[in-house]
Amino acid sequence: MLLTQPKIENTGSQYLQPLSEVAGETSPNQILAPLTARVNHRDHLEVGGCDVTELLAQFGSPLYILDEQTLRTSCRQYRDSFLRHYPGESQVIYASKAWSCLAVCAVIASEGIGFDVVSGGELQTTLQAGVSADRIYFHGNNKSQAELQFAYDTGCTVMVDNWLELEMLSAIATPQAPIPIMVRLTPGIECHTHEYIRTGHLDSKFGFDPHQLAQVFAWIRDRPQLKFIGLHAHIGSQIFERQPHQDLGGVMVEWLQSAIASGLQVESLNIGGGLGICYTEADDPPSIDEWVGAACRAVVKACETHNLPLPKLMSEPGRSLIGSACVTAYTVGSRKEIPGLRTYVAVDGGMSDNPRPITYQSLYQPILANRMSAPLSETVTVAGKHCESGDVLIKDTQLPKTQTGDVLVVLGTGAYNYSMASNYNRIPRPAAAIVNEGEANLILERETYADLIRQDRLPDRLRDR
Ligand code: LLP
Repeated sequence: MLLTQPKIENTGSQYLQPLSEVAGETSPNQILAPLTARVNHRDHLEVGGCDVTELLAQFGSPLYILDEQTLRTSCRQYRDSFLRHYPGESQVIYASKAWSCLAVCAVIASEGIGFDVVSGGELQTTLQAGVSADRIYFHGNNKSQAELQFAYDTGCTVMVDNWLELEMLSAIATPQAPIPIMVRLTPGIECHTHEYIRTGHLDSKFGFDPHQLAQVFAWIRDRPQLKFIGLHAHIGSQIFERQPHQDLGGVMVEWLQSAIASGLQVESLNIGGGLGICYTEADDPPSIDEWVGAACRAVVKACETHNLPLPKLMSEPGRSLIGSACVTAYTVGSRKEIPGLRTYVAVDGGMSDNPRPITYQSLYQPILANRMSAPLSETVTVAGKHCESGDVLIKDTQLPKTQTGDVLVVLGTGAYNYSMASNYNRIPRPAAAIVNEGEANLILERETYADLIRQDRLPDRLRDR
């Protein structure tokens, strides 16, 4: 339990280390705040060399604040860990569902990372950010004909999920210009995470049942318009155990072997994403390097056992690449004290900019960013502003005494916040700024009321006559 506000520059706890000690060494998924977080001379939280209160004054509230250094560090740690632990070729791809926008894609692409997209919209965003199609992999359990055609036209690889897709792709592609595909399967591996974000168990909507693989392989082999590249599986998200991915490496190599036995050529093996991050002090995920090392060793060992050449090993992290790189800053508004029961402190956002607490009961760590050295003095519940009782960002958390106008920051909001944001209650989505070495740039405009009604149409017959 924290007894003081996080004094970011001078205590020894995990998210409070001095800058000099963190850069490069610390695994961003193991700390709560971005690597560059510190307290400045005004007793304010600073991220990327920018005072958070000034960022709010400049860009408005609430605001997503993305720390470029943390994002780049995660990318490099993934890339370098694969190079260190895997003797064969490797490729890290970013699961862009975690946060897809032009600037995020551009930063990640510049670190040599590829992209997992799951819709025509994510594909369009990634292409428009300048990513070449040979680094893009198109996922999804129900891709439309139009999306598959789009994927084919751009030249990206399709992660085939089901028979319908195999049929549609066979009709779209030609033997002269075959479409590269990887086959997604449900490996039957359980992991401990929220039911909604588990995908590897057999009762999942994603991927082929492994019992059908022999049939799938034979089907592909007979169709020269399909260029089989390899296999894919993703077992779930926000996982702290290493064992499931070690097991996955082992079983996937066995299935690669049966693909080869069916007469297919195998280039790649994609073991998905899933590494967890720290949202609160209680979270204890392995580091990026530990996770990558464990997965690589399992694949290398299985390949040795089965006497197979090493495939190109791919992984597609989302959360652990970007989750810890962003914080959301809010302004404190109203307060409701219910004697003997609870005190609600409301902020100017909530479930529309961060739907994770209401969807998955996810926990988050707040910081009072404009009085960093203030002692924790009360237990409050941080509520959002939406017309829904469940719109609570953080239940029963300790904070210094807050006042209207204070700046409250929620840590670890880089993954699945903006990307799952909505306009519930017609609340405009916040702006986002990227910060680095004291410079802040807008990467997402704040939505306006005009944006909210841009797609509305009022048929003449419904107008007041
Ligand atoms: N690959 C595939 C095929 C996936 O489905 C996912 C996530 C990933 C990679 C990336 O997983 P990560 O490294 O981020 O754990 N909205 C939920 C998370 C849903 C994850 C969906 N798939 C949340 O907010 O927790």
